[in-house]
Amino acid sequence: MIAPASPENIARAAKLLRKGKLVAFPTETVYGLGADATNDQAVREIFKVKGRPASDPLIVHLSSIENFEKLADTTLARTKLDKLARFWPGPLSVVLPKKDLVPESVTAGLGTVALRIPSHPVALELLRVSQIPIAAPSANPFCYVSPTEAKHVDDQLGKQIELILDGGPCQVGIESTVLSLVGSQPKILRPGLIHRELIEEALGECVSDGSKVTDAVAALPAPGMFEKHYSPKTRLRFSDEINPSELHGAIGLIKFREDFRELPYDFDAINTLSSDENPKEIAANLYKAIREQDLLGLDLILVDRCEEKGIGIALMDRLRRATSR
Ligand code: TXA
Ligand code: MG
Repeated sequence: MIAPASPENIARAAKLLRKGKLVAFPTETVYGLGADATNDQAVREIFKVKGRPASDPLIVHLSSIENFEKLADTTLARTKLDKLARFWPGPLSVVLPKKDLVPESVTAGLGTVALRIPSHPVALELLRVSQIPIAAPSANPFCYVSPTEAKHVDDQLGKQIELILDGGPCQVGIESTVLSLVGSQPKILRPGLIHRELIEEALGECVSDGSKVTDAVAALPAPGMFEKHYSPKTRLRFSDEINPSELHGAIGLIKFREDFRELPYDFDAINTLSSDENPKEIAANLYKAIREQDLLGLDLILVDRCEEKGIGIALMDRLRRATSR
């Protein structure tokens, strides 16, 4: 059931979480499907509801940096964490050595755990009221596009979730950056809004990018980063790779800027994500547009490319995966 994120409903959600139940809630990136991160049974339920393989670890959400050390060994990363503090609350997840309190179901048996402090006020309030760390993947069936509105969660998982807190559309629109702080050099495992240059500037050192995928081969940089992640059911391709007039059938177009270019085809659906190719605006609107067109029974969806700079790197990462099916 979708419920507005009122103080009463947040209190109800907190109670459900404490009882080992699942609750969907908004974060600034995408909606999460949350469970008490210290409750093995509850965490296993997340995997069941999403149809997610147990080998794909979850991100744990906390309300403050002080709480990091309850779940992770922060000794070696302490100075780095202090330098990264400017990004929290916000869309940056860090991977650290885990402590025993975190069940192996959360980390897919790894010795490390991913932690982040979300900046969405509803997520923060839920963490504060429940007083528990919340393990939450994106609230979508495994490999599908992440939800950026409560309705997206309800459409696909509504029957299996008792409560979906509605906090409006997500502002960032793509998943958090995942940064590993284990090993000699910090490494980006999944690019996001907090991009490499920002992290390097904060840390004052080089950060390696383990998330790079090319058009030819989509690598597996982080456990659970699957090639065909983030895919709609309808075939999705880059608009500069296909000449639609050589095809027949119903084709949709997702444009990144408002322009008056002569369209090469009488498209059956067109979504324009930004007036001037603003990457943040594109990110905020991308998943919703893909979902909308995926419901239209089209034969093909074409999507623009963006410049691979800043958050554009994350956008192209998601789109390469989404177009690889
Ligand atoms: O923005 C987000 O991060 C959203 C919201 C809900 O917070 N969550 C999210 O979770 O995108 P999910 O489960 O869809 O993606 C989590 C990814 C895993 O697939 C994996 O790539 C990485 O985070 N991850 C988690 N734990 C890890 C670990 N211990 N080591 C390496 N990568 C890890
Ligand atoms: Mg996901």
